[in-house]
Amino acid sequence: MLVATRSGAVQEVVRLFAVFHDSRREHDGWDDAHGAQGAAYAAKLRGVLFDISDEHFELLHEACTWHTHGRLSAEPTIGTCWDADRLDLGRVGIQPEADYMSTEFGREIAAYDTVPNYLERSGLKLPEPLY
Ligand SMILES: [Fe+2]
Repeated sequence: MLVATRSGAVQEVVRLFAVFHDSRREHDGWDDAHGAQGAAYAAKLRGVLFDISDEHFELLHEACTWHTHGRLSAEPTIGTCWDADRLDLGRVGIQPEADYMSTEFGREIAAYDTVPNYLERSGLKLPEPLY
């Protein structure tokens, strides 16, 4: 959601990406199919647990499906989803790199190595609400 504050992303898609992109991960190792499986799971629950327009669902589906393939996207919502996921790579000991960010703001944050570092050094606080 921090990246979305400057990227022009559709925030409901970013929130749903956070829920579904790793929802079908079977283990913490290399699991190449989990993005597509997360997208399929979102499709299964659409209309049951959440509603979203066809246009926004297409963004969610593409963002989930391809988030594991190291691509970049010029589409602001998809790029925001992927940047947010990559900015969190410190959780598995990988330092985010600006070259793997799709958005200008993602590249700016990656230059600080972590989101907390970015926030601390830039003097920003997380915008509310972030949930
Ligand atoms: Fe993932």
